[in-house]
Amino acid sequence: MGKNEVKNGMKRREFLKNSSRFVAGSVLLPIGSYPLLSAVTPSLKEKSVPEILLNNGISIPMLGFGTHTLKGAACEQYVSEAISVGFRLFDTATIYGNEEAVGAGIKRSGINRKELFVTSKLWVDDSGFDSTIKAFETSMGKLDLDYLDLYLIHRPRGDIKGTWKAMESLYETGKIKAIGVSNFEPDQLDELMTYAKIKPAINQIETHVFFQQPAAHQYLKQHDIQMEAWSPFAAGRNDIFNNQTLASIGKKYQKSNAQVCLRWHFQRGVIAIPRSSQKVHMIENLDIFDFELDQNDMETIAALDLNTTQFPEWG
Ligand SMILES: NC(=O)c1ccc[n+]([C@@H]2O[C@H](COP(=O)([O-])OP(=O)(O)OC[C@H]3O[C@@H](n4cnc5c(N)ncnc54)[C@H](OP(=O)(O)O)[C@@H]3O)[C@@H](O)[C@H]2O)c1
Repeated sequence: MGKNEVKNGMKRREFLKNSSRFVAGSVLLPIGSYPLLSAVTPSLKEKSVPEILLNNGISIPMLGFGTHTLKGAACEQYVSEAISVGFRLFDTATIYGNEEAVGAGIKRSGINRKELFVTSKLWVDDSGFDSTIKAFETSMGKLDLDYLDLYLIHRPRGDIKGTWKAMESLYETGKIKAIGVSNFEPDQLDELMTYAKIKPAINQIETHVFFQQPAAHQYLKQHDIQMEAWSPFAAGRNDIFNNQTLASIGKKYQKSNAQVCLRWHFQRGVIAIPRSSQKVHMIENLDIFDFELDQNDMETIAALDLNTTQFPEWG
């Protein structure tokens, strides 16, 4: 049993009692083991977002809200709406230019900060020890928060070693609850782990039904690093919302293509952070915990993999 697993009923109850982010209906899943969910516990059918423990013991929701391209007052409104319908995990980044708006949306919602899990990312221009410390403080000022739940290296560029050392020192002061990376290939993670004192908790990478990344998925599981999917809907590319294979699976459960996609991520043990500027979509995206894809569905979806990025322009 891995060190981040909750070993028995008593320990789980103690953890839940002490967890500030626990809400009724949350369920903690052991990282790295994802049986079909009805086999775990019937309470997974409740609608609250289940949480999982990262490799440092921090709890994170399995489903969150992405904010790329959302800006200004609109972003503030969407974040506040997303909180009102039940999202608790928010993903922003320095390069999105919306940390102020995300922070304002959080304030506007009136929610207790401790109920949320907020992620931001260090952009490549700020790599290196001193620049990372400075960029982090700037982000915190914009978000107007006194701690961050997760800070990621956005892309594997520049002085990664200096950046990681700075992130470790911020983590040690308690200003960040977990640190990780984004867009890292397995060999780049291998390299980082030759000098890291603290193992990355997460690797956030492009993953959706058209780019399933089985090798990265396997590698991250083996190394106890949580996989998080960016663009879980491929940002709508390749006509994902009208895909006939997803539609015929969804029909069996009276679920949309979007819900089938999100459920697929969840059953793979991958955290998804869909973005939406429509409340009806936000509500729909949260409504994935009352059905289960069967083995045939999972195999059918596996066959949709095109094994290539849907964002070649970001290469
Ligand atoms: N680390 C990285 O390098 C990286 C790169 C890219 C993205 N990200 C993160 O990942 C997040 C998600 O990725 P993304 O923003 O690229 O795109 P995405 O979440 O894959 O897709 C967003 C699109 O899906 C639509 N949508 C959402 N829910 C829907 C539903 N239920 N039915 C139909 N359409 C729906 C949205 O339209 P509506 O607004 O109309 O709902 C929007 O056009 C980003 O926002 C960002 O936080 C990280």
